[in-house]
Amino acid sequence: MTKMKADIGVYGLGTMGSALALNLAESGFQVAVTNRETDWIATFMQKAGPLAEQLTPANTLEEFVAALKTPRTILFMIPSGAPMDAMIDAVLPLLEKGDTIIDGGNADFHDTRRRFKRLADTGAHFVGMGVSGGEQGARHGPSMMVGGTAHSWQQLKPMAEAIAAKYNGAPCVAHLGPDGAGHFVKTVHNGIEYADMQMIAEVYGILRDGAGWEAPRIGALFEEWQNGPLESYLIEVSAAALQTMDADTGLPVVDMILDRAGQKGTGRWTLIEALKMGQSANTIEAAVGARGWSSEKPVREVAQTILTAGTVQSDVPDAAELEKALLAARILAHAQGFRILAAASEEFDWALDLARISEIWRAGCIIRSALLDDFAQAFRDELPMGHLILSPAIAAMLADAIPALRRVVMAGAGLGTPLPALSSALAWYDSMRHARGTANLIQAQRDFFGAHGFARTDQDGKFHADWPTLASEQA
Ligand code: 6PG
Repeated sequence: MTKMKADIGVYGLGTMGSALALNLAESGFQVAVTNRETDWIATFMQKAGPLAEQLTPANTLEEFVAALKTPRTILFMIPSGAPMDAMIDAVLPLLEKGDTIIDGGNADFHDTRRRFKRLADTGAHFVGMGVSGGEQGARHGPSMMVGGTAHSWQQLKPMAEAIAAKYNGAPCVAHLGPDGAGHFVKTVHNGIEYADMQMIAEVYGILRDGAGWEAPRIGALFEEWQNGPLESYLIEVSAAALQTMDADTGLPVVDMILDRAGQKGTGRWTLIEALKMGQSANTIEAAVGARGWSSEKPVREVAQTILTAGTVQSDVPDAAELEKALLAARILAHAQGFRILAAASEEFDWALDLARISEIWRAGCIIRSALLDDFAQAFRDELPMGHLILSPAIAAMLADAIPALRRVVMAGAGLGTPLPALSSALAWYDSMRHARGTANLIQAQRDFFGAHGFARTDQDGKFHADWPTLASEQA
């Protein structure tokens, strides 16, 4: 029996590709599937069980492309970087005007912009789609951030909406802008993810090292927090991980895991792009930096024997304070992420809808949390100067939680427990609420040693002081 032409093709049957193909099949679509290593295809078809009926396996790229309805929609779930360019070289001769190919990996949005242009010259379309939610999300409902043409979105929309996570019935997927918009938003999502993970780990650190709590007790506390304003996927998984015991040793699994965290690059990209646009996201920087320091395990082992703590008497904050501190810091980290999105929207002329982005992050993605709904509402309401922290509702939440963040940061400093992300959040909050900062001295220093000039508070224009002469005259 010959099968109907497929609605979509999925190339790449690794963890995420397989899960998305099965999700599409389960949602009633016909899916052509293939993989570079063709022996994976049979294994995947077996795993598909009854869903195999919806799947058309293909052993060659030609067969795969021929199995698709036109205009074609092809989703590539392959490693980002050079493999994607090689894939485009291979598939392009087989495509026709109006076909769309989608890169669903964590690609650098600069590459996506370049590829988008390359395909546009051929009459085909390129979509950069950020997919969040890990394997479970991909299989049962991810959050997806789409960048590309309106034409591609028309093709993709019914399928993307069907497989996406739902928040009160609304699909967590949106067409966010052209070319690299989707991949950029996904990159910043990951930057916020890094900061949130780091902040949770810092709270764990203060309870473990300051209060001497065992992992399962900390996990149980996090589980309780799931009933409050911190409700989120990352607290949920942290709670579960901390309470999981190692079968071999009978100890908590987290106690058996080496304290060295890896990274694939999206957190770093968020920072690089932020800095290029004159933005600073110090909570994300702290998180990326902390992963770097975590890898310097041998140095830390030596340093522990050389560097004294010099702690000062401090009380360990109580659980309620830690909960509020984490809430304040989480709000501030998100606000920094949204500032980067706003800056990129300007820079690349994307007209990003920050309310919509908050909405599609409410379910399916790794940073999903109760707060995202508050953020969506804040962006929909009148937002002073476009800044999340200036929203009356968000500022009120901060007003309630900042004293706790202050106490926790003070305690961390006193106890000698490193809180790089939590303290960065507070430093940013305090910097932003000072109408008069200290950069007047920075300008004086720059002018003193480099004649860089400065602006005055009382007159327009650019000024330079002859500092040594002024100093000697006044001596
Ligand atoms: C997601 C995740 C996912 C992945 C990141 C983590 O949204 O589903 O962010 O994309 O977990 O690649 O990146 P690191 O390996 O850099 O932590």
